[in-house]
Amino acid sequence: MVDRQIKNLTIDAERLWDNLMLTAKIGATPKGGICRLTLTEFDREARDWFKAQAQALGCTVTVDDMGSMFARRPGQRADIPPIAMGSHLDTQPTGGKFDGALGVLAALEALHTLHRAGYETFAPIEVVNWTNEEGARFAPSMIASGVFAGVYGRDWACARADRGGETFGGALDKIGYRGAQRCGEHRLSAFFELHIEQGPYLEAEGKDIGIVTGVQAMRWYEMTIIGQDTHAGTTPMPRRHDALLGAARVVESVNRSARQFPSAVGTVGILEVKPGSPNVVPGEVFLTMDLRDPDAAVIDRIEQEIAAQARGIGRELGLEIAIKTISSEPAVQFDAGCVAAVRTAAKISGYSARDMISRAGHDAAFVSRVAPAAMIFVPCKDGISHNEAEYSSKEQCAAGAQVLLQAVLDYDRRLAERLGSE
Ligand code: GLV
Ligand code: MN
Ligand code: MN
Repeated sequence: MVDRQIKNLTIDAERLWDNLMLTAKIGATPKGGICRLTLTEFDREARDWFKAQAQALGCTVTVDDMGSMFARRPGQRADIPPIAMGSHLDTQPTGGKFDGALGVLAALEALHTLHRAGYETFAPIEVVNWTNEEGARFAPSMIASGVFAGVYGRDWACARADRGGETFGGALDKIGYRGAQRCGEHRLSAFFELHIEQGPYLEAEGKDIGIVTGVQAMRWYEMTIIGQDTHAGTTPMPRRHDALLGAARVVESVNRSARQFPSAVGTVGILEVKPGSPNVVPGEVFLTMDLRDPDAAVIDRIEQEIAAQARGIGRELGLEIAIKTISSEPAVQFDAGCVAAVRTAAKISGYSARDMISRAGHDAAFVSRVAPAAMIFVPCKDGISHNEAEYSSKEQCAAGAQVLLQAVLDYDRRLAERLGSE
């Protein structure tokens, strides 16, 4: 009986697609992407829209003091923490329409489906919008789920400043989304996150669904290089302490060091040059480094090599080079029960699937420290993401949403079997 009910619940592909296209207008870029940096007015607008939609479905929306939003649909048992699903509504500066938005809007679509069917779950069901998943404005990424999981301190997180000097806490107040609930106090029975793969494997293999078993390790660093700003016309080459030349060599070193390991990646994503004048030898550079590999020991080796090379570059050019680690996330293995729910969901929904790890970071990785979690991937065109051309089809998005709903219902059924008679 229960199985039959679960199978009959089908999400509405058109409504999901319409909502993806509608919300993509909030912060839309001329090239068809979205620039909706966290805690900006566009973010507020997307949050307000999400809140209104959830409330129209009868949900109660709670906001925690890191701005993360939890829209709850009651179940039979109010004493059991909710089974949650969601992702993030913030984007990269040249972000696409699907990274993050798909996970939140598909979760909302799952709620719509339950609502329309009048289906009563055992546990409450929640949709979560995590604040600042991207880390594009306030580094590091996944800062709110990091506080939620006890990895970062609230005060530290709220004091993080963007490149213009505005703090996370200040920006949260400005858009009116510093909630009353203490971040981390919100308990979850489980968390499921649907996301586009952001890589090429599902598309290349013609698979509909990625059953995500874990996330690779990643580390972020900030580097400051101090030289001396001097006159570009009058300072002879041997007398210069050119911070940008040092930075150029560091960028080269990051690329070379990461390439030594087949599975590793290394990126310098921000480079700020001061004072920024055509006729001044740059005296200061700020840059960021992002290193990732499924094995944290590989990151250790790359980091040591870059640090040694930076010392050499500093000595040779007369520069002070300081490297600070701002986040270090070990590889994550998702909960076997949640992964099994995704596998079952893909199977009963009739989709082809393969197991895989995530090469991108996700809130589910932090949440998995405090609640059972797993992820679902759908293919994206050419594996391209963090790009305005990012694309997954209506059918691919719908498949992911259907598997998300079924995974949550499968987990709910197991929870009912385990706790039902208590
Ligand atoms: C999240 O967008 C990441 O950097 O992987
Ligand atoms: Mn994302
Ligand atoms: Mn992203």
